[in-house]
Amino acid sequence: MKILILYHSGAGNTKLVSEILLNRLKQTHQVEISHVKKEYENTRLQQFDLLIFGFPTHHAAPTLTMTEYINRLNKFDQPIKSFIFTTYGLYPGNSLRIMAKLLQTKNIKVIDYEEFKAPATDGVLLFTDKLKFMFEFEKKLQEKINRFVAQIENFQNLTPKKLPPYKWYEPLNNLVKPLGMKYYEKLKSQMHIDPDLCTNCNLCVTVCDRSAWQSGNPIPEFVLDNCEFCLECVHKCPTQAIIFSDFMKDKPRLNKRFYHNLKKTIMK
Ligand SMILES: Cc1cc2nc3c(=O)[nH]c(=O)nc-3n(C[C@H](O)[C@H](O)[C@H](O)COP(=O)(O)O)c2cc1C
Repeated sequence: MKILILYHSGAGNTKLVSEILLNRLKQTHQVEISHVKKEYENTRLQQFDLLIFGFPTHHAAPTLTMTEYINRLNKFDQPIKSFIFTTYGLYPGNSLRIMAKLLQTKNIKVIDYEEFKAPATDGVLLFTDKLKFMFEFEKKLQEKINRFVAQIENFQNLTPKKLPPYKWYEPLNNLVKPLGMKYYEKLKSQMHIDPDLCTNCNLCVTVCDRSAWQSGNPIPEFVLDNCEFCLECVHKCPTQAIIFSDFMKDKPRLNKRFYHNLKKTIMK
């Protein structure tokens, strides 16, 4: 069976879950994995028996990068089968349902879905770095992955599920959501590089798929309109030079070492 795992990931949580799925599935299937990019258009997707989409939840919805990618696809003539999952820090809202509905418009049917509570890539910078759970995946991660993998293995015998159920308490979240989004827009507009810390290594330029950072002299330049505030650059900058608020200056980053250690704890 030919499976494609397509993910969007800022700091690395969704990438990590995608890689765990890859490791599990590649033993018995031909699996390709990539972050979303325009090269994966309709003709290419049709070459797979199954698609798996992974994305972080931002503001109780799939990320902009994932949404824009799906919107760019043409509607398939024949239904395509898929599984979807999201990683979230505290509250995923109707993120999976929104994604499943979007995929429906392209004739991509969702067979099953899962949500994984993960480190809060925004929370550890903006709120407190004192709470352990903010840096962890949920305890049920392995259990949920086992269930998800078992469903994927059996997908040919399964019919697409109904849409993920609407969470009745979502209207409460909708009351505060605009405030949260406005606050994050403000923070994003304050994104800058501390010139004393920047070594002009250009890693931010390389990792940003949306070209929100462009090479510059003596330091890279920020293009606000391109940024979706996924925080990949903030967490990956090796000298912690990318800052959007004084408050987060000295907060720990979810960097290479963090994911290396996290992988060891969740894989054991
Ligand atoms: C801009 C932004 C908005 C977020 N909004 C939510 C949210 O609404 N609910 C939630 O539970 N987590 C939210 N988070 C946390 C992420 O969903 C979570 O940390 C996710 O696992 C990040 O995945 P990644 O490392 O693959 O980017 C948000 C993070 C960012 C950066």
